[in-house]
Amino acid sequence: GPGIAGLIAGLAVDVPDFPQPGIVFKDLTPLFADGAAFREIVDATVAHYGVGSFDVVAGIEARGFVMAAAMAYAAGVGVVPVRKAGKLPRATHAAQYALEYGSAALEVHTDAFLPGQRVLVVDDVLATGGTAEATLGLVERAGGVVAGLTVMLELEFLGGRQRLAAHPPHALLRV
Ligand code: PRP
Ligand code: MG
Repeated sequence: GPGIAGLIAGLAVDVPDFPQPGIVFKDLTPLFADGAAFREIVDATVAHYGVGSFDVVAGIEARGFVMAAAMAYAAGVGVVPVRKAGKLPRATHAAQYALEYGSAALEVHTDAFLPGQRVLVVDDVLATGGTAEATLGLVERAGGVVAGLTVMLELEFLGGRQRLAAHPPHALLRV
């Protein structure tokens, strides 16, 4: 086959000027919709870290949820949602962050992790790194230990990796 990177490159769709002029949106929905491709990216990501190297998967709303639940199921661990502000019902830690477009806040339940639990953080795309940086901070504030940060696609020109030096991201495809 084309290899994982080629699979993603072949199924990702560039959408110019979405959600606003000047942004080229990387749409991974065709990758998630392809059963064989989806299984391959989930299994490859779990295999990169290895079953047993993480205790729980944290998925970042919304697109990270798709990968997070599948990876957790494949590895036999649980999944924790890191959500946009105002969605979680109990006490939370919150972090503001700036996006390539706009700004927002993410939250996690204060008791989402057992102390010292090894947390694998997953999202679909790493762009400026603001979302990932905020999430790693939330994991640590909630008592977790970051076991890794993984994305399907990294947009290198936006420099996200530079602000994530403490936890170098794993990306299946870097463009
Ligand atoms: C997108 C994408 C990543 C984030 C990457 O999410 O899914 O989570 O942006 O950008 P960054 O590295 O510059 O922070 P978005 O906030 O658009 O929301 P969604 O996942 O709910 O669609
Ligand atoms: Mg997102």
